[in-house]
Amino acid sequence: MSEQQHRNKSGFETRAIHAGYEPDAATGAVIPPIYATSTYKQDGVGGLRGGYEYSRSANPTRTALEGNIAALEEGERGFAFASGLAAEDTLVRSLCKPGDHVVIPDDAYGGTFRLFDKVEQVWGLEHSPAPVSDVEKVAAAIQPGRTKLVWVETPTNPLLNIGDIAALADLAHAAGALLVVDNTFASPYLQQPLTLGADVVVHSTTKYCGGHSDVVGGALVVKDLGLAEKVAFHQNAMGAVAGPFDSWLTLRGLRTLAVRMDRHCDNAEKVVDFLTAHPKVGDVIYPGLETHPGHEVAQRQMKRYGGMVSFRVTDGEQHALQVCERTEVFTLGESLGGVESLIEHPGRMTHASVAGTDLEVPGDLVRLSVGIESAEDLIADLERALD
Ligand SMILES: Cc1ncc(COP(=O)(O)O)c(C=O)c1O
Repeated sequence: MSEQQHRNKSGFETRAIHAGYEPDAATGAVIPPIYATSTYKQDGVGGLRGGYEYSRSANPTRTALEGNIAALEEGERGFAFASGLAAEDTLVRSLCKPGDHVVIPDDAYGGTFRLFDKVEQVWGLEHSPAPVSDVEKVAAAIQPGRTKLVWVETPTNPLLNIGDIAALADLAHAAGALLVVDNTFASPYLQQPLTLGADVVVHSTTKYCGGHSDVVGGALVVKDLGLAEKVAFHQNAMGAVAGPFDSWLTLRGLRTLAVRMDRHCDNAEKVVDFLTAHPKVGDVIYPGLETHPGHEVAQRQMKRYGGMVSFRVTDGEQHALQVCERTEVFTLGESLGGVESLIEHPGRMTHASVAGTDLEVPGDLVRLSVGIESAEDLIADLERALD
């Protein structure tokens, strides 16, 4: 077994720090250099050093990131892209053709819905939304023979619904389709869908993987080498790859994923306790709550329940908007998964693209990305904003 394979069998934290990269042979650099190069000197025509010929096809900094994220998801191969949506588009075109059909979450991230509804549909791919938490409804949405992908997020964005990955994988496979899991909200630290039967994991690495709100990126991880070939071909043919600087930042983020996620979870649990006791807060949506309809499944397939918390205020949309504008430690902004806490109004911000559709989210909903600041400061900030 090579040193690399040995590391891939190690604990999560060890893999996060070591998988995908050996200290540089020439210098011993323990951190992969940022290979800011578009091309590579060949030793005679076709004499590539380490397989590198052009950086759209492969770049050593990106290779390190791809190896690392594949090891964290317990997959065979990882692929890094310029954004989560670039990863999604590449995956869809790798595995589907015009005339095919996919099932998507009925509360998918707005940008994912827009991609299927406004881009892939024009290309000839049809989609049917279904609730990821209801296996029977997902089954009913499948069109045997036509459905190529069952696409789920779990937890979903922003309603934190939970899909049973093992059950959905069985369902998809029985219908001849593949199960794709967008694991952005959980991160590979809290949930590893490939080990539960999923075929492909999607990430917006912009979020918890990068973890510092300083880079936009996406990733795919697969366990089947035949699938990997198709994705590799399309990654190069479509060209929406992660650049070396972005790959380096994302890889730096992944090294501390485990410790960050534990603190995100600690703080989210404290914020949830505070919100559930607040008179101006109605539903608090967090998979860690026993009252959450997906709690039991989440308990089975997640290590902990993550840093995302959504809640509905009792005084309607205007109050929700005011709360979002009044916080000082929680920054009003889109995105999630960084060390700093963010607050947003999904209906007017991240999910504005689903307004007026069946996927529209409630106006009194507020979404928090709970960061790793002092929990007392986060709670005091929410208390001020709600009052
Ligand atoms: C669950 C989920 N998937 C995919 C994406 C798209 O990723 P990106 O913004 O990196 O393109 C996002 C972005 O917010 C997301 O929240």
